[in-house]
Amino acid sequence: MAIETARASAVSPARRTSKPILLVEDDATLNRLIIGQLERAGFTARGVLRAKDAMSAVREDEPALVLLDIRLPDANGLDLLAELTQHCPVIVLTAHGAIDQAVRALKLGAHDYLTKPVRAEELELAIDRALDHAQLRRDGAFLKDQLQSLTTTSMIGSSPAFGEVRRQIELFAPTDATVLVLGESGVGKELVARAIHDSSPRAGASYVAIDCSTLHENLFESELFGHERGAFTGADRRKLGLIEVAEGGTVFLDEIGELSASLQAKLLRVLELGTFRRVGGVSDLKANVRFVAATNRDLVAMSREGRFRTDLYYRLSRFVLNVPPLRERGDDVMEIAQHFLKTRNFNRGIEKVLDSSAVAAIRAYSWPGNVRELKNVIERAVVLSAQNRAIRASEIGLDPRKVIQQGNAIEFSFGYLPTIEEVQNYYVDTLLRRGNFSRARIAEVLDISERSVYRILQQRREAGASPEDEPENA
Ligand SMILES: Nc1ncnc2c1ncn2[C@@H]1O[C@H](COP(=O)(O)OP(=O)(O)OP(=O)(O)O)[C@@H](O)[C@H]1O
Ligand SMILES: [Mg+2]
Repeated sequence: MAIETARASAVSPARRTSKPILLVEDDATLNRLIIGQLERAGFTARGVLRAKDAMSAVREDEPALVLLDIRLPDANGLDLLAELTQHCPVIVLTAHGAIDQAVRALKLGAHDYLTKPVRAEELELAIDRALDHAQLRRDGAFLKDQLQSLTTTSMIGSSPAFGEVRRQIELFAPTDATVLVLGESGVGKELVARAIHDSSPRAGASYVAIDCSTLHENLFESELFGHERGAFTGADRRKLGLIEVAEGGTVFLDEIGELSASLQAKLLRVLELGTFRRVGGVSDLKANVRFVAATNRDLVAMSREGRFRTDLYYRLSRFVLNVPPLRERGDDVMEIAQHFLKTRNFNRGIEKVLDSSAVAAIRAYSWPGNVRELKNVIERAVVLSAQNRAIRASEIGLDPRKVIQQGNAIEFSFGYLPTIEEVQNYYVDTLLRRGNFSRARIAEVLDISERSVYRILQQRREAGASPEDEPENA
């Protein structure tokens, strides 16, 4: 009864797919009988009598599962197991009392065994279980694959500069060497560290990130190396450190430039010896991890000034991966912006687009905060544009114009090609705001009439500039 209910609620994958069950059984009567049972249960099934036909049937029919008799006239079924299990799950059929053979079959990779004569519901249950199991394994592999491609494809950018980054990731990943990832804040150093792990032979094991800037001086050792029970007050049991947690995987040391002098010494020891000791422990343990470190600091300058150990720097810097700033990555800016917009769209179910003014503003800007800043800007723009489909430059909210003023010298940069009117208005604006010039003085500087200045100011006011920006009358 219980079996019936279970079967009614679970739809067997084999009955959903058209793949057949292959039966290898040399007793022709039994063969016909079991095929009949299978067909009544809703499976498609094909029976063969000999081992040699089994192998060709597997290749031709790609069965979902094989039912395999162990005693065959032309071979021992156990000898076929290794090859058959490469294709699909196998359930062996054994004679009553041949339990040792069944055990051997399981050891050789069979999914299950049934003793002959086989009862119909026993047969179905075993098949359903084996097929579900195989499906789960396929799902697992598929999900892992998906996850992998999500993490790797989410590293966007096809500029030559970023191509170099990708090339180096592929180059360094297979080695076990420590890699130092350098680059400005927000360029994607952590993403690169993760990509090194994901493309390395250690990808199947853990990736553990440690932020060195937030590590507590006296907790560092216990965090990283773990501690024995009773090592200090409060250590009421043994705790594994992150190096042990990451066993076989990768430890990412983020913000390594923030590490204090004493911690630098401790880290150097692990890197040099490849061993560590739990706090309060008496023996050295082997550190089976690969280290990747990152910083936006100038470690060379820091070691020159005595703030970063030179020996640690050398240890870290054999393989250095420089992640270039976004402004040097050409069209990556637009590619990444569109990517962030797409993921936002996906999250909110609205399809937003950047209009041409927004695209121009994004291109013109220099992105000192790199990819992180771009991400924030896009997210803000999506919110600001409310129900509108198109995102405009005003919602991007970047000013690509810059003024550098030194005494009487002034330098403008627009980051795009401005119109005469724009140059003029921007100049007036700058004089007003920064120079605190009166109308008369502006007229003098610009070598135009006060009336013209008045007209420009009028235009500005109409365009929405606030009255405080205007000078008192001379
Ligand atoms: N090439 C890229 N494609 C897509 N997203 C990216 C890319 N590079 C970075 N990002 C995203 O930008 C943000 C910042 O990246 P990340 O944290 O790796 O930068 P970082 O260099 O480690 O910054 P910091 O120096 O501040 O630690 C993250 O949300 C990351 O997912
Ligand atoms: Mg980071």
